[in-house]
Amino acid sequence: MPAIPGPRTPAQLFRAGRAFQHSLPEGLEHLRDSYGPVSVFGVGPTRTHFLFGPQANSLVMRNEDNFRFSGAYDMLRPIAGDTALVTTDGEPHARRKRKSRPSFHRGGAEESTRLILASIDETIGRWRPGQQVDVHRALRSAIRSAMLRLFCGERLAAQERFLVAELDRIHELMDYPLPQQLIAWKLPSAARGRALKAISAVERRIYEEIRRRRRAGDPGGGRPRSDGHPGDLISVMLSDDGPAMSDREIRDMVVSALIAGYDPVGSGLGWAVYNSLNTPGVWQRMREEARQAPEGEATAAARVRELRYTNWVVQESLRTHPPVVMSPRRCVRGFRYEGHLIRAGSLVAVSEYITHRSPDVWSEPDRFVPERWDTSRDGYRAPTPFEYLPYGYGGRRCIGANIAAVVLPAALSRLARRTTLDLRTRQPQYGGIPALIPRDGLFAEVGVAPQEERADGVLAKEPR
Ligand code: HEM
Repeated sequence: MPAIPGPRTPAQLFRAGRAFQHSLPEGLEHLRDSYGPVSVFGVGPTRTHFLFGPQANSLVMRNEDNFRFSGAYDMLRPIAGDTALVTTDGEPHARRKRKSRPSFHRGGAEESTRLILASIDETIGRWRPGQQVDVHRALRSAIRSAMLRLFCGERLAAQERFLVAELDRIHELMDYPLPQQLIAWKLPSAARGRALKAISAVERRIYEEIRRRRRAGDPGGGRPRSDGHPGDLISVMLSDDGPAMSDREIRDMVVSALIAGYDPVGSGLGWAVYNSLNTPGVWQRMREEARQAPEGEATAAARVRELRYTNWVVQESLRTHPPVVMSPRRCVRGFRYEGHLIRAGSLVAVSEYITHRSPDVWSEPDRFVPERWDTSRDGYRAPTPFEYLPYGYGGRRCIGANIAAVVLPAALSRLARRTTLDLRTRQPQYGGIPALIPRDGLFAEVGVAPQEERADGVLAKEPR
């Protein structure tokens, strides 16, 4: 049986390491271009088998029994916890995921959109003509504020400054380039020490909140369920609906939602802004669509369905810049793939990014073309779930997908309607590991907003 291709000589190992050091997409592209659709790279516990393309995605994502999260996301254990969705499998994983559902569906998704849009409005309301803003950073902060409320409730969200400082210390390590990161989580270092101290500070506050609510017999933390809104994530996890959850399980769910939540949404929105501003005519067309969209009483989800073009923009941006670039798994049993034997216990990874940029699937894959999502155009073919998978697939599909599918077009439409931005970062470099981000920021100069649409409402009151 032929050996699995991959970098072996010192020169090859150096080139591959350097590519991953630059960014995760660059590392993955290097392996694909140099070694093809199956390769192996890394030493000891970091040795990973990379399988690229829809067929590999289907094999790995449809066989959850054999391709497991536990053992693949172990480096996140000290942060996410032993009962988190990303560190568990099988029935315990499914039970906890089911329990959290109300936070992410219908009423939960509606409330998320309302809070996130309010937070974005506040942010863009502070922008002034002529000011240079890092759009990605500003939007990420706005989303983070809203998510603290959504997941932890008002009392903890009031400690935002403290929590954000601690969460940033955790992210510092999570955003190390992959080669260093895999080592940094295992060996003592100053950054690891800071991250571990930060997570104990955050979890102490979360535990206090859970215990306070239990003692008071008040799962909602003072807030009654209303208008079909299920309350924050802590209250959903404390509720009597479904199986009871331990304090540990609730802590792990809340921490996971925080660390897995605001970064990908910030990334998705940041890249959508970049792609729209960088492609002539897109911002203007979204603005016109936003002005024509009915306001009315309908739900955010219903309103967003009317934003046909903006939805294409979001779908296309999640294709060219998927926030989650790669999905690792640990295989329980050995398996054969493309004539190669991959042994039991191996670390395996598939890649959303490589799939979304594959010329075998997409014409001109590197071009940003929102119209390719127009189902009425000649020759349109819907991608299969393994050709386009920004939110993953099956039992491990993203819990936040429903929220993101509404929030991203709603927020992008709001930005196009109320702001004029002149892109200054023309060629952003990739950074980030848990989510793909513009490494050195995404700068734009704020222009004069269309008169009647300024978020702070000042001009809206003037006669036209
Ligand atoms: C644009 C936004 C988002 C994108 C593109 C995204 C992408 C993904 C992807 C691709 C996966 C599957 C990973 C794999 O199979 O290895 C995933 C899982 C997950 N996501 Fe998201 N995500 C987004 C937003 C969110 C939000 C808002 C939350 C907040 C709760 C969240 C929490 C999670 C969690 C906890 C998992 C693990 C699910 C499981 O193990 O069953 N994500 N996400």
